[in-house]
Amino acid sequence: MSDQSTPSQTEQTLANLLKEDRRFEPPAALAAEANVKADAYDEAAADSDAFWATQAERLSWDKKWDQVLDWSNAPFAKWFVGGTLNASYNCVDRHVEAGNGDKVAIHWVGEPVDDTRDITYAQLKDEVSQAANALTDLGVGTGDRVAIYMPMIPEAIVAMLACARLGAPHTVVFGGFSADALASRIDDCGAKVVVTADGGYRRGAPSALKPAVDEARTKTDKVEKVLVVRRTGQDLGENGWDDAVDVWWHDAVGSASTEHACEAFDSEHPLYVMYTSGTTGKPKGILHTTGGYLTGAAYTHNAVFDLKPETDVYWCTADIGWVTGHSYIVYGPLANGVTQVLYEGTPDSPERGRWWQIIADYKVTLFYTAPTAIRSFMKQGPDVPDRFDMSSLRILGSVGEPINPEAYVWYRHVIGGDRTPVVDTWWQTETGAVMISPLPGVTAGKPGSAMTAIPGISADVVDDEGNSVPNGSGGYLVVTKPWPSMLRTIWGDDDRYVDTYWSRFRKQGFYFAGDGAKKDTDGDIWVLGRVDDVMNVSGHRLSTTEIESALVSHPKVAESAVVGATDPDTGQAVVAYVILREEAGDGGPEIVKELSDHVRREIGPIAKPREIMIVPELPKTRSGKIMRRLLRDVAEKREIGDTQTLADASIMDLISAGQSTSTED
Ligand code: WT7
Repeated sequence: MSDQSTPSQTEQTLANLLKEDRRFEPPAALAAEANVKADAYDEAAADSDAFWATQAERLSWDKKWDQVLDWSNAPFAKWFVGGTLNASYNCVDRHVEAGNGDKVAIHWVGEPVDDTRDITYAQLKDEVSQAANALTDLGVGTGDRVAIYMPMIPEAIVAMLACARLGAPHTVVFGGFSADALASRIDDCGAKVVVTADGGYRRGAPSALKPAVDEARTKTDKVEKVLVVRRTGQDLGENGWDDAVDVWWHDAVGSASTEHACEAFDSEHPLYVMYTSGTTGKPKGILHTTGGYLTGAAYTHNAVFDLKPETDVYWCTADIGWVTGHSYIVYGPLANGVTQVLYEGTPDSPERGRWWQIIADYKVTLFYTAPTAIRSFMKQGPDVPDRFDMSSLRILGSVGEPINPEAYVWYRHVIGGDRTPVVDTWWQTETGAVMISPLPGVTAGKPGSAMTAIPGISADVVDDEGNSVPNGSGGYLVVTKPWPSMLRTIWGDDDRYVDTYWSRFRKQGFYFAGDGAKKDTDGDIWVLGRVDDVMNVSGHRLSTTEIESALVSHPKVAESAVVGATDPDTGQAVVAYVILREEAGDGGPEIVKELSDHVRREIGPIAKPREIMIVPELPKTRSGKIMRRLLRDVAEKREIGDTQTLADASIMDLISAGQSTSTED
């Protein structure tokens, strides 16, 4: 593998993982009634076009496709060629037309206790139609881009579906991102309208969003109108409203007609752009289109969660600002017509049992969350969850990073009462939908392994030359065949798309995911994490270069290097090494806080380094490449590895001798 992996540590992890011999068979009753059974693997492999055509039949098409897949211009795929459909119609209208208008689509739970709303499919249809009409009045037409920067309130979903209804690709920006990050995304995709809210509730208090949109508007001239939901009622400040641009949601949407006839779009019409970090400082706008994406989201949600839409109550704790929220809060679940919970706030507000209370209150049956959350609950102990009746749960899901076996077993035991299969789902913003996962009614789960590619998906672990590695060996995780919900390109940058994902194994035509993985002796896959300069902090993707650029934009900083260090809570944590400019002297007593606040302002709180070390030099090879491997050794307090390729070997002594400074405030 590349310079980025730490061989000694990877070997250690592998050795530990392979000692894991616990197995959890699917419950017999679940297996007997499972949506997807073992024969699906062979069926899909025998004729993948036919398999995907069957999956696409889950949707309502205005016009059927002529061809399942056109891969003649690889790696630019076209799925369900010639077909037309509307994603919003598929997520809303058709359920009402089928007689399910009174069914609850969303049990919304605000963070303040008792601030709840139940929204039926019929109500959702009315509100999405109103929002589509309002956006049309604000000048949004088919093909125009709309940015959405919102808290976890129903209007966020309504806004996304209204955009889909108009064929106006949305780009949802996570509410925790800074004004700068918002501005660069708006600018890159040329969004002319922003949908936002005055704020949302986080940790028991209103947290403002609108001021960041105002600030972003000073950095880009693309925005024509801002549609604002009044959620918290907080004061917008003296210059916090611009009559020429800002429009209240309750005025514009509230007064709009609930009638909106939707148009069918080509299967390859852009549905959304989701920005994610890559190995350079510039985030990539991952483009997903309509028919294939919706097919992938609906199929996987049905298969991986064994969804029974008549009886299940589903809850995914992700934020709609990430791809998980797109595929497994909005498009998959709503296309499948399920009832789901949507929660606005933090897990411990007003007290540590809030999530478990919600599961008990709504009798949640399917629950999807991230390992970082599970680990934080593990630390608190079983007493809190044990107070709640969670016997309704039947399947638990995990996503975002490898789940360590202890966290898996704790999740299954304490939250799932040992009855529930745990599905460890591997996928990416780029893949659009789950790729590697156990099937709850088929697979005997191994704690820590995502197991095998689901039916229809072909994944493998290969060596440097692209050869499949034998069982028991490690290598690079690749996808060997195109799949319907795959990204189509990087917005505005076809070359970067080809370069980033398809050049590493060009000869074989494999999609390279950026992850390292191991096949165990049974051939099951254990994902080990990124092999590039991408970190995974609490299941969120961050680029080392992006944070380095943020640091270097500070006037006192000459140079910086950022690494992801193993962290017991967040999986990885950001550790930054900084060389100050000569004129900055020692930077002053507040330098670490100053730099940490700076990163927070430039990117957002999630990118804030755990530690910042002020160093005299950085370890570089003779060709000037920073040896992050050595910096990771220091950050993880390990013996420093091989320094032979360093231009100046004494540098590591200087760095190790320095004091690390935690940024915790
Ligand atoms: C990266 C993708 C998928 C939605 C959330 C993150 C890591 C994700 C797993 C898993 C091991 C995982 C990978 C991947 N990852 N799920 N179950 N086991 N690693 O989406 O921000 O696009 O990040 O998250 O490293 O490449 P993302």
